[in-house]
Amino acid sequence: MSEQGSRIPGFYRLTVEARRSALGERVELSIEDLITLDHGGLDTRTADQVVENVVGVYTLPLGVGLNFRVNGRDYLVPMAVEEPSVIAAASNAARMVRDGGGFQAEADDPIMTAQVEIVGISDPEAAKARIEREAPELLRHAHAALPRLAERGGGPRELEVRTGTDPGRVIVHVHIDCRNAMGANMVNTVAESLAERLASLAGGRSGLRILTNLADRRCVRVTARVPARALATQDLAGTAVRDGIVAASRFAEDDCYRAATHNKGIMNGVDAVVIATGNDWRSVEAGAHAFAAASGRYRPLAIWSAATPVRTGVEGSDDVNRPDDLVGRLEMPMAVGTVGGTLQAHAGARLAQRLLGVTSATTLGMIVGCVGLASNLAALRALATDGIQRGHMALHKRSQAVVRRDREKSKPSVPPTSAR
Ligand code: MEV
Repeated sequence: MSEQGSRIPGFYRLTVEARRSALGERVELSIEDLITLDHGGLDTRTADQVVENVVGVYTLPLGVGLNFRVNGRDYLVPMAVEEPSVIAAASNAARMVRDGGGFQAEADDPIMTAQVEIVGISDPEAAKARIEREAPELLRHAHAALPRLAERGGGPRELEVRTGTDPGRVIVHVHIDCRNAMGANMVNTVAESLAERLASLAGGRSGLRILTNLADRRCVRVTARVPARALATQDLAGTAVRDGIVAASRFAEDDCYRAATHNKGIMNGVDAVVIATGNDWRSVEAGAHAFAAASGRYRPLAIWSAATPVRTGVEGSDDVNRPDDLVGRLEMPMAVGTVGGTLQAHAGARLAQRLLGVTSATTLGMIVGCVGLASNLAALRALATDGIQRGHMALHKRSQAVVRRDREKSKPSVPPTSAR
């Protein structure tokens, strides 16, 4: 994508057709793609192969998050969401971050974890030692259960034994590099294939065998630096807005009721991209909130602070660290994939991934994290200034006007005979 690839000034004022043309200048769109955009990419017949008791399909608006620059590259970000202002707010915040150089993001390897519970154990520490001694052989067995993953460079990496949740229980974690897949099926396969061997080594019975959604070995970390001037409103200087955002962030650190809403704002952006790209948003949600509470206290997934100036000692250059900047950091698990799952059945999800232009699950995860941080910035800036209702209600009125207009249009111009 070109340098200005994710900046499309005035995009929101264009008609849907004109927006598609603007997209078409950046990503090739076929007639089939346009049909997919119109219908959402899943027909009833296909849906009937995906889940049970199907009677139809359920659609959501698909928009594009603009202005995203991540690690120096531009991305047009597909977002599927029903809530007005989420896409506009994230795009607006991404533009502020862009003013400061864009998002910096990094991701762990795509490690998911299989959990095998073994119960009825009389000596958990001895069981732990016996399993740990056999770890290389157990990992070889796990590898053999996933031959195709090993061909793609992934596979089981490490085995970990936990005790102490209950006197008679041992929990075995197998950490598996799932490459570009979210990996739930592969991880569950490993959990089931190792369970009996583990139970016999431990001298107990196998209990639950399933992945954990607390994917804390598959985290993304995102940083954004926003120059204070980019935060200014009509009424408030940028530094005042920055300080308001920092105070709002502290509120979330101090109070779990506020942290829940703070994190909901992050998930507005996260879920929209996770859904658009055909991923399991319940899994990402579960991982996010378990991670937020992992310290024993529910905490914000992203926090904001004022940049600390670095003094160089050189006269006139004490601001090398841009002391007016607002700095945001987000860390959260990100179990998303670019292959498998819904993608096979869902043309809309496949198209969304093509619009985004990523094939790597870790890159997708980093972008999702950036959209989460952008959504959080937009919400805190609004809350620290005008409140969210002004912008929200303006967009709500707009969508109501569209609904009214469409209802009018669909009224028959000649009344049906029975009504005359
Ligand atoms: C609304 O969908 C999200 C917010 O409540 C998030 C927040 O309060 O930070 C605005």
